[in-house]
Amino acid sequence: MKIINGIEIADNILEDVKNEIIKKNLKVSLAVILAGDDFASKTYVKMKRKKCTLVNINSYLFEYPSSVGENTILDKIDELNNDKNIDAILVQLPLPKHIDEKKIFSKINPSKDVDGFNPINAGKVLLGYDDAIFPCTPIGIITLLKAYKIDITSKHITIVGRSNLVAKPLLIMLIQKKKEFNATVTICHSYTKNLKSITKKADILIVAIGKANFITKDFIKKGSVVIDVGINYIYKNDSTAKIVGDVDFENVKDLCSYITPVPKGVGPMTIAMLLKNTLICHKKNK
Ligand code: GUN
Repeated sequence: MKIINGIEIADNILEDVKNEIIKKNLKVSLAVILAGDDFASKTYVKMKRKKCTLVNINSYLFEYPSSVGENTILDKIDELNNDKNIDAILVQLPLPKHIDEKKIFSKINPSKDVDGFNPINAGKVLLGYDDAIFPCTPIGIITLLKAYKIDITSKHITIVGRSNLVAKPLLIMLIQKKKEFNATVTICHSYTKNLKSITKKADILIVAIGKANFITKDFIKKGSVVIDVGINYIYKNDSTAKIVGDVDFENVKDLCSYITPVPKGVGPMTIAMLLKNTLICHKKNK
């Protein structure tokens, strides 16, 4: 069993982004919109901005209370779309319930859509356009698999989850009729029957459901690769929090050929790909 080191691979990507920015003397900027007071979102945004500083990307934070009106955010996006000093716009999810996520992401200029959540970019991913912006977590997972020389071609990959953020774009990317891809993918979700019998057939199992330690060893095929996308906060009595994945790591690890830990697995890759996408947006805008 080998534990995949997400930090190491993410650091290599950050180093490349930083070197390119310095070598070409680029002025790269990311605007971050954060609405509400979700603890995890605040933590992610803080980590994302810290890494921006590390690679010489200027980040600007626009923070709103959870009562913020939809139009206030739409107006801010309009302003940022027209601001020549802003290369990329990130709207941290989840948004407060009264705000229509689809309206928000439709408003972002596709060339500044760092998450690839605008319908133009999502469509480009679906149709295999060369200039598509790939969502950060799926492209982060594919980059991790490549870094560890884990072959995807003709493998049976099972994704547990069906989110627009991770599962759907990942499915599309994995089945691409392109060298290095060509996987066979099964998507499972809360209405799937006999989940274990399906996950047990997977050469590569990717779990993105947000349920702490849900996947135990009876879901796993011996020798398979397990990618855990979950980041679940377990709050302790002293109000500190422990982070665990969707996979019961200790229970499962000895059955796998490779496994990502939580933290230090997929999470750092999402951030690294965000900064790489910011640089891609910068080039699109110039
Ligand atoms: N919330 C959790 N993951 C993500 C992500 O990749 N992008 C955005 N914008 N919000 C998130």
